[in-house]
Amino acid sequence: DTQAEALHNILAQHVGLEGPLLPILHAVQEEFDHIPAAAVPVIADHLNIGRAEVHGVVSFYHDFRDLPAGRHVVKICRAEACQAMGVNQMADDALQKLGLEWHGTSKDGAVTIEPVYCLGLCASGPAAMVDDTLHGRLTAEKLETLLAEASA
Ligand code: FES
Repeated sequence: DTQAEALHNILAQHVGLEGPLLPILHAVQEEFDHIPAAAVPVIADHLNIGRAEVHGVVSFYHDFRDLPAGRHVVKICRAEACQAMGVNQMADDALQKLGLEWHGTSKDGAVTIEPVYCLGLCASGPAAMVDDTLHGRLTAEKLETLLAEASA
């Protein structure tokens, strides 16, 4: 199938590379938007390492997801300047309302919430990014509206 083929191509492109696991995982994530469960044993066999090792790396780095992201990805800045503007409380409340944890995706697949560490909007924090659009000066209401729109 095409997934196996794409994976095969990725593995072929990384032959002979030193420390190939991370670059391979990045390429797989880029191609499929997540690390498909079926890819783990193929990658492990190819690199002659254990599946648990591959799985461990996938779960250690939050850049990698083992399920596809939601249709919209909301990244909320948790770096210092935004924290000073009260983003933590705001984000915790919003996550609780959605019944989600950081990196979680709503059951209907509409929205994934990710933390991010500085969006370059420090002067107008708290800041978030919905897909490719930046939003500054968040208030609890504004964040709620953004999340409601993303979940719609
Ligand atoms: Fe949040 Fe820089 S600290 S945008």
